[in-house]
Amino acid sequence: MEKNIKILAIETSCDETAASVIENGNQVLSNVVQSQIESHKRFGGVVPEVASRHHVEMITRVIEEALKNANLTAKELDAVAVTYGPGLIGALLVGVNAAKAFAFAHDLPLIPVHHIAGHIYANQLEHKIKFPLISLIVSGGHTELIKMNNHLDFEVIGETLDDAVGEAYDKVARVIGLPYPGGPEIDRLSKEGKDTYDFPRALQDDSYNFSFSGLKSHVINKLHNEKQKNIEINKADVARSFQESVVDVLTTKTMRALKDENIETLIIAGGVAANSALRERFETLTKKNNIELYIPSLKYCTDNAAMIGAVAYEQFKRGDFADLNLNGQNYIEIEEVY
Ligand code: KG4
Ligand code: ZN
Repeated sequence: MEKNIKILAIETSCDETAASVIENGNQVLSNVVQSQIESHKRFGGVVPEVASRHHVEMITRVIEEALKNANLTAKELDAVAVTYGPGLIGALLVGVNAAKAFAFAHDLPLIPVHHIAGHIYANQLEHKIKFPLISLIVSGGHTELIKMNNHLDFEVIGETLDDAVGEAYDKVARVIGLPYPGGPEIDRLSKEGKDTYDFPRALQDDSYNFSFSGLKSHVINKLHNEKQKNIEINKADVARSFQESVVDVLTTKTMRALKDENIETLIIAGGVAANSALRERFETLTKKNNIELYIPSLKYCTDNAAMIGAVAYEQFKRGDFADLNLNGQNYIEIEEVY
């Protein structure tokens, strides 16, 4: 019988300090996520220096808790995995250094993981991933359409030309006076509103690329103009109208990519995959077009280390290890890494 592979995974690319122990790439033995959201709320967004400091304070405790919850000692592990990019460089370095120290101290191989691969593989924690597939990654830092023919084989077929969709959510939320992070707030408020503002659907071209900065500016200008005319804005209607525009654009391009590429499996990943309207629209459209749709449960949509462990298992099988010179990188293309 094959040995069961247990990997300690660490994720600190943005504002969650997370560690997890994963067995054979899909069994979550522990999943500890220490969120810093409360701390960043008062600034209306993630402050990189504050994030790094919190990671430093929390990382040792979070790793210890992950081991304790999994009921394991370091001796029983087979490898250590860590997100080394993309993300906030100071934040990444905390995880990377903790992982290197742990690997060195316990003589374990070190596995370098790309954050976006983690978001896609979050699905592997709950369902077996089937290939070929298209994955739509929608988060605070990314908006990408990625085609996969096999494990660790990533082809970026579309991406945002400017803002990430989560970033646009957070910005629009801020201008209508909602707290950070704005995505879930807009999602909630939009249920009480109507699509009365009819915001533009950007970049209706032949590519699979996206653009959200124009929409964001359009919302801000509209609010500004209404204010000058002393017209009271309806926040719920703004939220709903913005969300409808985002969902229209994301679903239209993704469904077209599936059709053009003749692919029948769709994975949605990243923090914005938690969005209720996006989920509902994709559920309807995929059913109608006989596409199998996979979306992780909410706890695996936002940043966590279990998803990093899921990718790391595939890398472990290939012997894709890093040495102790591994460094954090704020920007790295997924296609260059695997
Ligand atoms: O994947 P994630 O946790 O971090 C990054 O890697 O960026 O994504 C965070 C983003 C934030 O912009 C947040 O506002 C957004 O995901 N988000 C949502 C929802 N829940 C989280 N956006 C829209 N609707 C939601 N329900
Ligand atoms: Zn993320």
